[in-house]
Amino acid sequence: MPAETYIWWKHGVFYQIYPRSFQDSNQDGIGDLKGIIERLDYLVELGIDAIWVSPIFPSPMADFGYDISDFTDIHPLFGDLQVFKRLLEQAHQRGLRVVLDYVANHSSDEHAWFLESRSSRDNPKRDWYIWRDPKPDGSPPNNWESHFSGGAWEWDENTSQYYLHLFLEKQPDLNWRNPQVVEAMHAALRFWLELGVDGFRMDVVTFLMKHPELPDNPTAYDDQGRPFQEHRYDINQPEVHHVLRDFRKLFDSYPGERVTIGETWFFDPAELAAWYGPALDELQIPFNFITLKRPWQAATMKQAIEAYYAALPPGAQPNFVFGSHDVRRLASRYGLANHRSVGMLLLTLRGTPTLYYGDELGMQDVSIPPERFQDPVMWRKPGTDEGRDPERTPMQWDSSSNAGFCPGDVEPWLPLAVDYPTINVAVERADPHSTFNFYKRLLHLRRTLPALTLGDFQFIPVVDNHLASIQDVLAYRRSWQDQRLLVVINFSANSQLIDLSGVGLGGVTLLSSHFRSVEQFDLARVLVQPHENLLVQLF
Ligand code: GLC
Repeated sequence: MPAETYIWWKHGVFYQIYPRSFQDSNQDGIGDLKGIIERLDYLVELGIDAIWVSPIFPSPMADFGYDISDFTDIHPLFGDLQVFKRLLEQAHQRGLRVVLDYVANHSSDEHAWFLESRSSRDNPKRDWYIWRDPKPDGSPPNNWESHFSGGAWEWDENTSQYYLHLFLEKQPDLNWRNPQVVEAMHAALRFWLELGVDGFRMDVVTFLMKHPELPDNPTAYDDQGRPFQEHRYDINQPEVHHVLRDFRKLFDSYPGERVTIGETWFFDPAELAAWYGPALDELQIPFNFITLKRPWQAATMKQAIEAYYAALPPGAQPNFVFGSHDVRRLASRYGLANHRSVGMLLLTLRGTPTLYYGDELGMQDVSIPPERFQDPVMWRKPGTDEGRDPERTPMQWDSSSNAGFCPGDVEPWLPLAVDYPTINVAVERADPHSTFNFYKRLLHLRRTLPALTLGDFQFIPVVDNHLASIQDVLAYRRSWQDQRLLVVINFSANSQLIDLSGVGLGGVTLLSSHFRSVEQFDLARVLVQPHENLLVQLF
């Protein structure tokens, strides 16, 4: 791609590292920063452009780092500031950008600010958190529920008031209506931006402001008529847009395109689009989870993608996320037959992709025995109480015991997958048809073919030789100048013979999920194998 048109956060690929699980360097069974440094060359080999590292700050780890007790230091489990600086330097030397997590909605209850705040009603930091009197009958100030489970208010015996926590009781919400909080939290951002951090993924960033009067949330009903609490007043308040605009001004005051990414759980494309801001002056990448929640059906995906693109304001950069530390792994959610096709979508749709560590190997959710549960949040599988541990297990590097994540005689913090002897970097690197080599090739093609980053996007109707529409296959074209690429994804378990003669004279396959040998073909008769995807250069 012409260097002058390359904007790293628009055209590059993000890779999320869950630091506890990437690489242990000090034999304690928990990943750390030095471990990440040791693996930077792997990331270069794979072909990604930026890493987003989940929280590495001091924390009692009630929510595995999403409960921060010091916003401007490193947890000793992961290293220290010196090691972090080395990570930054080593990553930058290799052309990799580094994005950190900014957890601004709440701190840990062990943060010095909260300890002060809870120490007495007249402490100067009392108002840094959200404290309220009980109702006359002693019950909590309103009916808000935690986004994890149970009520959102915790009684403080010492000062006889409740404090608000939209997540765990060990995660008290900061009061973003207090200018001192804003200043202190901006100072934390400046600290990292000055060190050279390239941006932040901002955790539940649309939650920062609460309705000033804290009214009860109303009850709503799902499709089955079951009641649930609508989060009308606790999150997504209009004032939060000012907070985001101030973040952007702060980031833009630093050189080098520092990026603001937001964790934005919206499934209505218009609602999601609002987080770019009226003048594209808020989040540069409001994470798009719309497609992540859709079932694996060609028509449904197409409709979701079209609706998303249509809702974006002019000039807004689209983005796609399919995997993270909060949702099931691709290979488990979409099935072993389909997960490479999710990778094809992620890396060839128009927009910035975020890839979750290990998905490039086809790692699966790991079933965790109850005695090894770590995640305190029993929010996903009520029947099994399994939480989010299954998608957070150690990276699978090789076939040695503990997969090269930590020494064989050390117990890793979460168990390894049973498939690690075959699903790992070393084995897959040597297998030309592995998922790793599929991703590596695709990432390389993405770098070398500007149509995939700068190009237009257009869905192509898929028909058979009798012009009857085929529902199970998705096809789209990416074009830039005279470069034209075609992506075809077969969602079904049947071979499909399709007629794509409308899109060009012929084509040559650049990559197939099944690694069918590169072939030129007649676009009027394209045979796509069960669950196969193809990237084709048109001529
Ligand atoms: C976000 C994080 C999640 C965390 C929660 C509370 O959703 O992704 O892991 O538990 O915020 O901070």
